[in-house]
Amino acid sequence: MSIFQTVSGKAASQYTIANRLQIQHLLNPKALSQDRQIDGGDVVKGLSQTPKSLPPRYFYDDRGSELFEQICELPEYYLTRTETAILQGCAAEIARLTGACEVVELGSGSSTKTRILLDAYSELEYPLCYVPIDVSAGILESSARELLADYPSLAVRALVSTYELALKGLAPSRLPARMICFLGSTLGNLDRQECDRFFWQITDALNLGEYFLLGIDLQKSPHLLEAAYNDRLGVTAAFNLNMLEHLNWRFDGDFDPTLFEHWAFYNKSQCQIEMHLRSMRSQTVQLRALDLTVEFEENETILTEISRKFDLNLVQQELRTHGLVPLQVWTDPNQWFGVLLCQMQKSC
Ligand code: AVI
Repeated sequence: MSIFQTVSGKAASQYTIANRLQIQHLLNPKALSQDRQIDGGDVVKGLSQTPKSLPPRYFYDDRGSELFEQICELPEYYLTRTETAILQGCAAEIARLTGACEVVELGSGSSTKTRILLDAYSELEYPLCYVPIDVSAGILESSARELLADYPSLAVRALVSTYELALKGLAPSRLPARMICFLGSTLGNLDRQECDRFFWQITDALNLGEYFLLGIDLQKSPHLLEAAYNDRLGVTAAFNLNMLEHLNWRFDGDFDPTLFEHWAFYNKSQCQIEMHLRSMRSQTVQLRALDLTVEFEENETILTEISRKFDLNLVQQELRTHGLVPLQVWTDPNQWFGVLLCQMQKSC
């Protein structure tokens, strides 16, 4: 191949990628002011109450998203590889059950698991249309570009957005159906009320007959669960502490992360891992952009995340009450993790 051909080939492929990629930013100032949950009101509320808490969404700035990718690779964090193995086993069946459909992924991150689904749809020669949704523009764009380079017929319509905004503003599907994917057991990071609201948002975003693919972590030995959130390398601790750095840059704050420590344990009565940041001494912190001064006592904690662990039967009941009828459920041999394909079967 001559140099000329190589250069023009590259240029052509870049052109096609640009042509097949749309990125829409919903987190512009106007959208932010419409979304009361990201204007800092939730931070003020969480840090003003006793016990203190912060919404897990503040884990995910670019650094936090990178750390989360590292968590997914950790030996103790069985969730990602177990779900991936389940998807590898059931993707062909999912594609057969749904037929051609636009794949919408909430909290897509690096889109690793998406490839398994895209491969299954390609195998059946269905058109490929992918709508990744994530608050991290950096990871969203780089992973979209990698996918487009690997799947020449794929079209990507990426949304830099929170789930709520994206679900409200989804453009009509360009394929006969839509499947909204919520993988990685992110559902576990919502409390019961938020979960109920979230399922209604899914119902509202789907037409009758369309699909919802859900991955959830199941109840198991507390020992295994606690190990997954207290890894030996300290990546989960860094992920937890990074939330303070994120608040510092976003809200002009002066948290000193070295004066806090990571604390995670399984709360058996609530069937959830709880992740906290513990203040190692009494201190005062300011978030100037929020006009907020926060006092901490020594050993006082901030709850940064719950990670609920589910009972498969109860989740299915819950989904049904929202018109999301489970068509098929897959688990791994240890029954550590579940993947559910649901169909929207009732107009609400
Ligand atoms: C994103 N979410 C499902 C993860 C979890 O397991 O709850 C977040 C996480 N927190 C600590 N490690 C991973």
